[in-house]
Amino acid sequence: MTPSHRTVPLDMGPDQFRTLGHELVDRIAAHLATLPGRPVTLGDSPTLIRDRLGQGPLAASGGDPAEILDQVTRLLVEHSLFNGHPRFWGYITSSPAPLGILGDLLAAAMNPNVGAFVLSPVATEIERQAVRWVAELIGYPAACGGIMVSGGNMANMVGFLAARRAKAPWDVRQAGLRAGSGQLLAYVSRETHTWIQKAADLFGLGLDAVRWIDVDDRLRMRVDALEAAIAADRAAGHLPFLVVGTAGSVSTGAIDPLGDIADTCRRHDLWFHVDGAYGAPAAALPEASPDLKALALADSVAVDPHKWLYAPLEAGCTLVRDARHLEDAFSFHPAYYHFTDGGDGQAPTNFHELGLQNSRGFRALKVWLGLRQAGRDGYVRMIRDDIALAEEMYRAAQAHPELEAFTLGLSIATFRFVPEGLALTGSAREEYLNSLNADLVTRLQAGGEVFVSNAVINGSYVLRACIVNFRTGAADVEALPDIVVRTGRALMGERPNG
Ligand SMILES: Cc1ncc(COP(=O)(O)O)c(C=O)c1O
Repeated sequence: MTPSHRTVPLDMGPDQFRTLGHELVDRIAAHLATLPGRPVTLGDSPTLIRDRLGQGPLAASGGDPAEILDQVTRLLVEHSLFNGHPRFWGYITSSPAPLGILGDLLAAAMNPNVGAFVLSPVATEIERQAVRWVAELIGYPAACGGIMVSGGNMANMVGFLAARRAKAPWDVRQAGLRAGSGQLLAYVSRETHTWIQKAADLFGLGLDAVRWIDVDDRLRMRVDALEAAIAADRAAGHLPFLVVGTAGSVSTGAIDPLGDIADTCRRHDLWFHVDGAYGAPAAALPEASPDLKALALADSVAVDPHKWLYAPLEAGCTLVRDARHLEDAFSFHPAYYHFTDGGDGQAPTNFHELGLQNSRGFRALKVWLGLRQAGRDGYVRMIRDDIALAEEMYRAAQAHPELEAFTLGLSIATFRFVPEGLALTGSAREEYLNSLNADLVTRLQAGGEVFVSNAVINGSYVLRACIVNFRTGAADVEALPDIVVRTGRALMGERPNG
């Protein structure tokens, strides 16, 4: 039976939509305005949050949207961890730009499927423009191809798959990995993010296909070790296909010697991929190091707008020097798609052919809005300020008698708490400091005054602050040493052996 009058529990009239929307925007504005005065997090346990959320089964009948929205807004505003807080410096997650927040709302309202031009005419062209502008910003050739993805892992994986397709000496898409005459190998520094393990595992090469190359005293890939490994593997009948250089490592912001790695790749006919998920935007700074600027030589680059372009999660981006490589790696033409030209004789961009996703959301909008609002100069200023604040943090750690500064790279400073008068020496001292600083990270993270994460540098467990946060100011950075030392001392007082 065809219902003549459908009652649609999910629909909403324009007046109610307007009222709820205005209220929500007001509450988000108040949230952003009051954020600096509140804790970064309350450090709530899963049990507490589950209790607040309620543990009941799915209700048979629905509820009042105003009430539901009110409840969940309250829960989120009161119990979230806020990476938009001026004192959030954990991992690499930026403060979200307010215009990007509105962009996500607009993107959801239009709901284009950015898998095909015909389903998303404006959104497709905005994504193309955003990709080109990201390339221009970081000094990568603007004629490149590219695609927006969910984040850094996916952006790197797209590069990995393009490399595998381009450099495997047989048709790997048709015949699979078994058809190869040897093992495909990827070369990465020991400091490379764990995406490479996921890629090697998930795409069938296996973890043994990753060659971990040693780093120098600045935690940068040693190109002599890379050359030696490639030579040894070739002599053993293996098939090197990819070298990954990192532009800003996750732990310390180290930048591999990208120019030298590009040379090696050219000489050995290997795909050169740069993981610039964190550091690539810093290549926009005129004063960026030649090593960083050499990302322009890569065959592909992963950039992560939800890190240093301050887009709300999720937004990653892969750039590929020769646009055809993406289509080569990902394109299929099923019979049930009827995607013709756009009416002007030009082949339209159908993003489902350039990456892993089929239906795709409009994540490009928030990135595009940020690029338009800040422009190149705005990004340079924000990134430069983040770096200067990290430098200040590093200097403050150097100057404090109970802090030991470790590394400074891009906008990441690492340091540890070393209590005055510590009598231990040698490995007992290191073990004690590692355990103390690990507990300190836990305590700081739950405490809500500041949020830092950790790194392990040559066996030392250290605190790590990464500033990709346009809300952080000098006073926030100046407050850090005392908070760390006060918390560290309190912790020592509570530990059975100090
Ligand atoms: C260098 C690097 N690559 C890749 C990633 C993964 O990015 P995402 O968490 O957006 O997937 C990160 C995350 O911090 C990173 O620092």
